[in-house]
Amino acid sequence: MVGLMGAGKTSIGRRLAARLGLPFVDADDEIEAAAGSSIEDIFDRLGEESFRDGERRVIARLLDGPPIVLATGGGAFMDVETRERIAAKGISVWLRANIDTLVRRTSRRNDRPLLKNGEPREILIHLMEQRYPIYQLADIVVDSFDAPAEGTLQHVLDAIEAYRVAEAT
Ligand code: S3P
Repeated sequence: MVGLMGAGKTSIGRRLAARLGLPFVDADDEIEAAAGSSIEDIFDRLGEESFRDGERRVIARLLDGPPIVLATGGGAFMDVETRERIAAKGISVWLRANIDTLVRRTSRRNDRPLLKNGEPREILIHLMEQRYPIYQLADIVVDSFDAPAEGTLQHVLDAIEAYRVAEAT
């Protein structure tokens, strides 16, 4: 699962994993477990670059393991190595959301370091400009606006099925 903070990667990813009978793994949780500290702490103490190194390593390890549904952190797919690994080993699904949805959903939590250095809406608009052209490289794009999660999930399932049929022919 690929997309900006608040796109629904964890919420849809969990449901998708249950429907596919696969384990769900959140890369951010794995990074925290590997580092023994929170993402906020890693950003504060070691800086974003160090976080990105850890993120790249953790995702590489997870992609080498058995099949899972993986929610990546919002910045992970911006890394070319990570993108190449995902392309080689998995199916990437970009959950595309609009700005109002992202602002509303991200306002429910206060532990995302990138949203603390200014006005969240402006930061998210800037990240959309930077990242959406790259997220667009994902195998599958599904809109994740205000539809109930089950509706978005069904779109993801249908898109995965269509992708697999197209790959097999
Ligand atoms: C980030 C997104 C976060 C987390 C970190 C950086 C980003 O994950 O990895 O705070 O660069 O967009 P979520 O997208 O799961 O919130």
